[in-house]
Amino acid sequence: DIPVIAIDGPSASGKGTVAQRVAAKLGFHYLDSGALYRLAALAAMRSGIELKDEHALSEVAAHLNVVFADAEIRLDNENVTDVIRSEECGNAASRVAAYPLVRAALLERQRAFCQIPGLVADGRDMGSVVFPAAILKVFLTATAETRAQRRYKQLMEKGMDANIATLLQDIRERDARDSNRSIAPLQLGAGTHLLDTTSLDINQAVDRVLCLYAE
Ligand code: CDP
Repeated sequence: DIPVIAIDGPSASGKGTVAQRVAAKLGFHYLDSGALYRLAALAAMRSGIELKDEHALSEVAAHLNVVFADAEIRLDNENVTDVIRSEECGNAASRVAAYPLVRAALLERQRAFCQIPGLVADGRDMGSVVFPAAILKVFLTATAETRAQRRYKQLMEKGMDANIATLLQDIRERDARDSNRSIAPLQLGAGTHLLDTTSLDINQAVDRVLCLYAE
C-alpha cells in the first residue's frame, strides 16, 4: 500500500506549507486539493457560470485542463499560480466546494495523486473522504486571529492588497461554511491527530508531523 499522510484543517492554518515541506522531507508527492476547488471556481467565473449552478459547475470541475508542474499551476496553459490565491477565488472555492456534484467530479483526480513512494495531501476531507485509509491523519489548526495574520503576511508577500479585519471576517465565514455544509464538513475525525499551531512556527509544525509519521 502506498502511504498517504492526510493533513486537513481550516482556512489559513498553514496546512499547505506544512504539507509541502513534509512531502519534500520524505520525497513524497504533494496534493493541494484546495487548489482544485480554487481552479474550478476560477474556470467557472471565467466562463460566466453562476456559482449556484451546481450542474454547470460540476461539468467545469470534471473537465478542468490543469497542469501541476513543480511550483507552477497552469489552467488552460496559463500560469494561474498567484491568481488562484486571491481572496475572491478562495471565497468562490468555498461556495463551489459545498456542492456534492462538484466534489464527486474532483474525487478521482485527487486519488490519482497517490503514487509511489507516497503522498502528502492537504485539504478539508483528505482523511475522511478522499483517502480514508491514510496511514496518518492530522487536523492542523490555529486560532482565527493567528490565521488571519498568517494570511495577511502571505498576501503581502505576493504584493496583494489585504486588510486584517476583512481577512478575519472572511476566515470566520469560511470556517462556518466549511464546517456546516452537508457534504464533507470540516471536522476533527476519529483517529485524527489534532495539531494546534497557534504557538508553533512552521518548522515545529513540520517536525510534529514527521514525528507522528515515524511513530
Ligand atoms: O488556503 P485556504 O485553506 O483558505 O484554502 P484552500 O485550502 O485552498 O481551500 C479553498 C476552499 O476550498 C476551502 O474554503 C474549502 O471550502 C474548499 N476545499 C474543500 O472543500 N475541500 C478540500 N479538500 C479543499 C478545499
